[in-house]
Amino acid sequence: MTIELQATVDALVQKGKGILAADESGPTIAKRFKAIGVESTEENRRAWRSLVLATPGLGQYVSGVILYEETLGQHGDDGEPLPQLASRLGIVPGIKVDTGKCPLALAPGDEITQGLDGLAERLEGYKRQGARFAKWRAVYNVADQLPSRAAIEANAEALARYAAVCQAQNVVPIVEPEVLIDGSHTQSRCAEVTQAVLHEVFAALHRHRVALEHMLLKPSMVVPGKAHAMQAEPAEVAEHTLRVLRRTVPAAVPGINFLSGGQSPAEATANLNALNRLGPQPWRLSFSYGRALQDTAMQAWQGQKTLAQRAQQALLKRARLNGAASLGEYDA
Ligand code: 13P
Repeated sequence: MTIELQATVDALVQKGKGILAADESGPTIAKRFKAIGVESTEENRRAWRSLVLATPGLGQYVSGVILYEETLGQHGDDGEPLPQLASRLGIVPGIKVDTGKCPLALAPGDEITQGLDGLAERLEGYKRQGARFAKWRAVYNVADQLPSRAAIEANAEALARYAAVCQAQNVVPIVEPEVLIDGSHTQSRCAEVTQAVLHEVFAALHRHRVALEHMLLKPSMVVPGKAHAMQAEPAEVAEHTLRVLRRTVPAAVPGINFLSGGQSPAEATANLNALNRLGPQPWRLSFSYGRALQDTAMQAWQGQKTLAQRAQQALLKRARLNGAASLGEYDA
């Protein structure tokens, strides 16, 4: 059991590599496609995701890819199942297993992530389709009174129960508590919320006997709200983020792979680089970006087969720069 989990962790946490999040849900991928004038049909989603996975050289910088349930069952242009295509290129396939968020009852403004019922059975199926790791995302809205204690505790409990079910099935859990960037709050308010959230998440993981050695953390960086007048420089983001992480994340966690959460591709790379310039840290610090890796490539693609190569080049470029940033070697 531990051997399989350890092998997956070792494959995911590699020097100079990070994770590609390509697990947008139906409504989210529709929104991304709409921005480039592409309709979200099953075939268009398949075309995009097979283009992404077939990018020559991607495995140099990307160790794992998070897929959406639909993608696990789709095939590349030559008929190869997409999880198999990823594995063949040295990229570990993973699967988003939460079923999305909804309002937390009696807690206006707070949200809770769902998907625990039947999770063990679903994981068995995903494993048969090739998935070796999983992801569950909890979200926290920030305001003066948000998130509430109830939301912090309920989401921590759900994340820990998800992680325990995954490990029981030999699937490595990525634990993703996302403190949202939306709003006009200060960077110190983001730090305060992130610290409370992570403290509660690790208490719950301990309570549910999750092996910290066999999970990855996917947090948001500590940044001011997007609507705040003063945005932070990479060095400030790195300093605030690391202060919170060092206070809350045990050294047994092998890797911390940040989400991009609405940062521009260039910002996400510069911030990751600054984080890695402050080392050494007990954990490997890398990326698990969705938008920050895919946005420029999707714009280059425009839904057209003839532009696929251009899109792959754009994706490979962001992957290469983020790979360098994960070593603190990115030069803007
Ligand atoms: P972004 O990097 O676009 O925030 O996506 C990461 C992710 O997986 C969110 O759940």
